[in-house]
Amino acid sequence: MNEQDPHTPGTEVGRPDPAGDPVRLDQGHVEGTGGLPERFTNPGLPTHVQRMADVDEKAADRAEKQVAALFGISIVGTLLFIVLYFAVDLRQTVFIPGVGTMNASHAALGVTLAFSLLGIGLGAVHWAKTLMPDHEVVEERHPMRASDEDRAEAVRVVTEEGGTSQISRRPLIKYTLGGALGLFALPLGIQVAGSLGEMPRASLSQTWWNGGPSGPHDEPEFTPLRLMKDPENVPILASDVTIGSVYHVMPEGLLPDPVTYEGGAEHLLEEKAKAAVLLMRLDPTVIRSQKELDWGFEGIVAYSKICTHVGCPVGLYEQQTHHLLCPCHQSTFDVTQDCKVIFGPAKRPLPQLPISVDDEGYLVSTAPFAEAVGPSFWERG
Ligand code: FES
Repeated sequence: MNEQDPHTPGTEVGRPDPAGDPVRLDQGHVEGTGGLPERFTNPGLPTHVQRMADVDEKAADRAEKQVAALFGISIVGTLLFIVLYFAVDLRQTVFIPGVGTMNASHAALGVTLAFSLLGIGLGAVHWAKTLMPDHEVVEERHPMRASDEDRAEAVRVVTEEGGTSQISRRPLIKYTLGGALGLFALPLGIQVAGSLGEMPRASLSQTWWNGGPSGPHDEPEFTPLRLMKDPENVPILASDVTIGSVYHVMPEGLLPDPVTYEGGAEHLLEEKAKAAVLLMRLDPTVIRSQKELDWGFEGIVAYSKICTHVGCPVGLYEQQTHHLLCPCHQSTFDVTQDCKVIFGPAKRPLPQLPISVDDEGYLVSTAPFAEAVGPSFWERG
């Protein structure tokens, strides 16, 4: 057994090991642990340094007196507080720098109470830091592994008791059970897949710009439609659209009274959402379209208002840069370049609506959208 002097600073003696030999925590060195690796014997505590009061009895006495003095200050403060509170009438005011003028009794009571509490607090802290035991204690964990007997019993229960179901001796049951459980999941999967509805491509490819209600037409017959100002429901004259202006427009015929609309208010709302278009006029010289034909009219262009990311309405038009911004995830489309995506998560340009003017100078669509409006995630699946 190694004996070490507990009164020598820097050589703290730790908790003895089960064999009764002391353990030195400061060096991670263990005597009598049967050669255990150091990571099991050194808990990682910093070197323990003895306090003066631990090794010097006079220092301990001095610390005791200091603690007692602090508690004494508290006692004096409390007594003064009581005396002031009950016995002295301090009605005159006093001026305290930084605080101002206040009632003298309040000030005196506050100061004495402060000494009362401060004395107790500082005394307790000083006592803990100088005299209370500060030995590190290591709590050993119990082994996590079950005993050999318990492990053997668990194996016996699984093999012997499990065997009473006879599943290993009855292959017919084993295989039919597997088949039944496997097939059982099939109707659930079919139900889930079936409830997802049709792929959105078809419904998003047909909008009111195809010539009317966007039902499942195989080959919709195209009818030019006037571009209507929403919500005023008035047709737009090309000459009224000035450079830099932007309009939210709807196709002619899509702004009836929701009550009288045959398809119902909900369907009408869907139609409006798919057909919503933003109309802008740019200086034709800034347009750098890659399209062979001009889909606009003298700098007036129209694009679907539904963001191609996940379908929020694109609502912000920056007049100086000619950028359209989607407020949901900041996808940015450059109107001068066929609304190509220049920033953000959207993966394709906003669909453009080809437009021109009719005999009276009103803006009309000359064809429906060439591609589906709205989100395009289903195209990438
Ligand atoms: S919906 Fe427009 S950026 Fe996400």
